[in-house]
Amino acid sequence: MNAANPEPLAVFLCALDDIPDGGALEIPAQQSGAPGIVVVRRGDDAWAYRNVCPHFSIPLNYEPNTFWAYDAELLMCAHHSAMFRFEDGQCIDGPCEGAALTRVAIRIEQRKIFNDE
Ligand code: FES
Repeated sequence: MNAANPEPLAVFLCALDDIPDGGALEIPAQQSGAPGIVVVRRGDDAWAYRNVCPHFSIPLNYEPNTFWAYDAELLMCAHHSAMFRFEDGQCIDGPCEGAALTRVAIRIEQRKIFNDE
C-alpha cells in the first residue's frame, strides 16, 4: 500500500450464491453505508448498483429484499415499473428511460463479492 495513494478498503458484500441466479439481492444500508446496494446476478456474473431509482430517488423495492427481475436481463422498479438492464443499469423502458442506476464497483473472488469503494 502507498500512503499517498492508499488502496481502497474492500468490503465483503455477499457470496455470489446468496443471489438468486437471474435475480437480485439487497444489501441494506446498515452494512454498506447509505443508501443500500442491490446486486444482480446472471450465472457467474454480478453487477451492483445503489438501490436508488433515478425516477423518484427512492429504493427500487418497497418490501425488504424483494425485487422483480425478468429473463436474467432486467430489474424492475417496484414503484412505476422502470426497467433497468443488469449489465449497465440503464433504464430501457419506463418513466425514467435513458437514465441509469448508479454503479457500485465490485470484485468477485472465489464466488465472494467485495465492494472496492
Ligand atoms: S420510483 Fe422507480 S420507476 Fe418511479
